[in-house]
Amino acid sequence: MTADVFVTRQLPEPGVAPLLEGGVEVDYRDDDSGCPVAELRERSAGVRGMLTVLSDRLDAATMDAAGPDLAVVANCAVGFDNIDLAAAAERGIVVANTPDVLTEATADLAWALLMATARRIVEGDRLVRSGEWRSPSLVLLLGAPVHAKTLGVIGMGKIGAAVARRGAGFGMPILYHNRSRRPEVEAELGAEWVELDDLLERSDFVSVNAPLNDTSRHLIDAAALARMRPTAILVNAGRGPIVDEVALVEALRSGRIAGAGLDVFEREPVLADGLAELDNVVLMPHVGSATTETRAAMVRLTGENILAVLAGREPPTPVR
Ligand code: GLV
Repeated sequence: MTADVFVTRQLPEPGVAPLLEGGVEVDYRDDDSGCPVAELRERSAGVRGMLTVLSDRLDAATMDAAGPDLAVVANCAVGFDNIDLAAAAERGIVVANTPDVLTEATADLAWALLMATARRIVEGDRLVRSGEWRSPSLVLLLGAPVHAKTLGVIGMGKIGAAVARRGAGFGMPILYHNRSRRPEVEAELGAEWVELDDLLERSDFVSVNAPLNDTSRHLIDAAALARMRPTAILVNAGRGPIVDEVALVEALRSGRIAGAGLDVFEREPVLADGLAELDNVVLMPHVGSATTETRAAMVRLTGENILAVLAGREPPTPVR
């Protein structure tokens, strides 16, 4: 018998319990490796719901393989660039994501990358562990000041605003670039909307928090990096393809910019040549929302989205 819902990848607590409690039959792929396309199509055939993750590509062919009963694709992520929204709309499939519950955790991680890169935390950790640290030194691991420096936020959605709020706590003037103005963030933080070039030229830290779409792909290319200050640090906890990673390696290698803290990459888990050899980068494996509490909230919300659609109700957080 075909299950109601295919869960494509291992989930953290509470796992599939909310779905089972909701009375649906679950086919749980309890495996923390990306689901191969052939398996994705085979196991979703005939289901009414799919619980997906960023590593699943939900294109028209996969939706067709699932068949006409597929009513909901619930992504356990706030981003949904892995899902073809137009194809879903044509087939009457509701797409849902997990906004809000991960805003603060993701902003914390962006901030951790900013601090770690500026103050060379990873290099210091390596030095201390190596046993090669000789004595406290006045010239050891000099980093970039954070307090009162200018923070530029690209993409002033909820996560961007949460990053900006942390910056305000560090006494930083906030610049931002976003398709639309955010008067409430301007009023709260004194943030100033500027053109992208202006932001790049004036910021000591540039935080990328935009969603990935046709306008944001390679927004930070070689020309954009060339506008940044040689002392500036780029933080990306948004989406890898927003930054041209090859151009970034070149900018970091040549000292065109001072450093980068990255949680996301263009072709995860593959890195651009040379990135891993650089000392002026801090690299994390796409874990922005990875706290126990946040991941549990994401799993619960994803389950609620599925159960609502299967019961003929509006899901709590549909993608519109
Ligand atoms: C993570 O990248 C997410 O979109 O939730």
